Amino acid sequence: MAEYQVLEHDVLVIGAGGAGLRAAIEASANGVKVGLVTKSLLGKAHTVMAEGGVAAAMANVDDRDNWRVHFADTMRGGQYLNHPRMAELHAKEAPERVRELEAWGALFDRTKDGRILQRNFGGHRYARLAHVGDRTGLEMIRTLQDHGIHLGIDVHMEHTVVDLLKDGDRIAGAFAYDRERGRFKVFHAKAVVLATGGIGRAFQITSNSWEYTGDGHSLAYHAGASLKDMEFVQFHPTGMVWPPSVRGLLVTEGVRGEGGVLRNKEGRRFMFDDIPDNYKLQTADNEEEAWRYTIGDKNARRPPELLTRDHVARCIAREVREGRGSPHGGVFLDIAWIKEKLPNAAEHIKRKLPSMYHQFKQLADLDITQEPMEIGPTTHYMMGGVNVHPDSQMSDVPGLFAAGECAAGLHGANRLGGNSLSDLIVFGKRAGEFAAKFAKEHSTPALPKDRVDAVARIALEPFERQGTESAYDIQHELQERMQALVGIVRRQEEMEEAVAMIRRLESRAAKAVVHGNREYNPGWHTALDLRHLLTVSEAITIAGLDRKESRGAHFRDDFPNKDPEASKFNIVIVKGPDGAMQLKRVPVVPLTEEHKKIIEENQA
Ligand code: FUM
Repeated sequence: MAEYQVLEHDVLVIGAGGAGLRAAIEASANGVKVGLVTKSLLGKAHTVMAEGGVAAAMANVDDRDNWRVHFADTMRGGQYLNHPRMAELHAKEAPERVRELEAWGALFDRTKDGRILQRNFGGHRYARLAHVGDRTGLEMIRTLQDHGIHLGIDVHMEHTVVDLLKDGDRIAGAFAYDRERGRFKVFHAKAVVLATGGIGRAFQITSNSWEYTGDGHSLAYHAGASLKDMEFVQFHPTGMVWPPSVRGLLVTEGVRGEGGVLRNKEGRRFMFDDIPDNYKLQTADNEEEAWRYTIGDKNARRPPELLTRDHVARCIAREVREGRGSPHGGVFLDIAWIKEKLPNAAEHIKRKLPSMYHQFKQLADLDITQEPMEIGPTTHYMMGGVNVHPDSQMSDVPGLFAAGECAAGLHGANRLGGNSLSDLIVFGKRAGEFAAKFAKEHSTPALPKDRVDAVARIALEPFERQGTESAYDIQHELQERMQALVGIVRRQEEMEEAVAMIRRLESRAAKAVVHGNREYNPGWHTALDLRHLLTVSEAITIAGLDRKESRGAHFRDDFPNKDPEASKFNIVIVKGPDGAMQLKRVPVVPLTEEHKKIIEENQA
């Protein structure tokens, strides 16, 4: 019999980034007892890596903007695989959620007349990203934490959830360990909100820190929820490539929003070479017009550097592959060039992009006001996730909700920059509200004690095994192989090789040995994370194999075009009765007549 402590809550929120904090705040404001579990420390969430801004059609900088244009941009960016109802709710509610943050103390940059300043970003027709220099996510987290702290939320830092618990079909809580002491805790709850973020650590080059091992995706899947759109992994075009120790660290899209341009080693601004047909009318075809857009000329078209992330990342990969890259395997991102246009350019850059200035100065000994940066694509974001109801965010498992990056639907095949931060606050709030409602309407579920004992036993197995298999080696091999075989450019044979590799690593993971004791044992933590990493890697790969076309972030060398037939379905993955992944093609949610009209209106 395992030893564990039981903690009682109405709503348990797992994850303390933007979505988790916003869900916890809302559930608490609805009068239920809320627990918040975070694998790391409060304040250390991938939310802070959304640096450039939060997308909300507030029309403070461009009065042509409104929720309809934001909806149309989001759908076009997601190549129409998005859940249209989610895209509608998101576009309508984001401005209110941003104003609410301001009322709670977030200090956004200002327009000259004192309103929240908004900047340009890829795929957004108008300047739409409310921002705090290049530290927007950080300011959001700070604000949500400050606000949440007064609500009596019960916070458990450095706790990792190993499994979800169920009473029959419905959720009953979560089984976790505290990382410091290695003690087990059972969080008994009527409703659970997953807000665990992404899966970046399944790849070698990533902007994600160590926490992002796909926990929420995998916990939900193993609890019987379905996953959707798992083939769509976003490779952000601009991560650092040098020095090696910081490879993958994010370089905000805000650099391009403020006039940064991409050049290859020949000095060519290569983004002009390949403008997709569906963005031709909105994209400048010359440098002069692109600059006019940057400085706010409403008649100018967007710079090609602000095309959607999937496209920009692929163009960069092409330049590198064809031998026109920078010395360390990227291309050049140049914001220093704006000194040709602005007399006080260096000060302007430092004011608009203070974190980027310090990041490059301190980590790469490079002054971005004087020299171009070397950048390349980095695994940044997961469009796929738990399949949820668009209004309530509840999954197929009664009482289990998901919000933010670990939920699917809003972004379709490709997310627009800045739509992640608005996603977190719009759907974090909704998840908290509906989880609280669920908790109020349902009695306390029974605690499945046998299951708790079984999970505890499995969690301790690595200590009892003999042999030499190392969880670190398995994790390292998985990351390296996923990057090589299921990365930015994919093909059938390589993804098949990836499936075989995942199978091999699964059997090795079942033999992984952990030494030492339970107190702060990173080897043990890595061994337990492997299940999640392997689960999401398999889901990404089999969905990638099934989608025999190129769309959004999923690009296949062997099927380089879009297939009109494949625009009609989303790929959904469930755990079959035999424990194996089952894949289904599910018709995309149809657009309403109003949605069609909005998309039509915004076609140009
Ligand atoms: O480039 C960025 O600042 C990232 C923003 C995002 O992922 O939304």
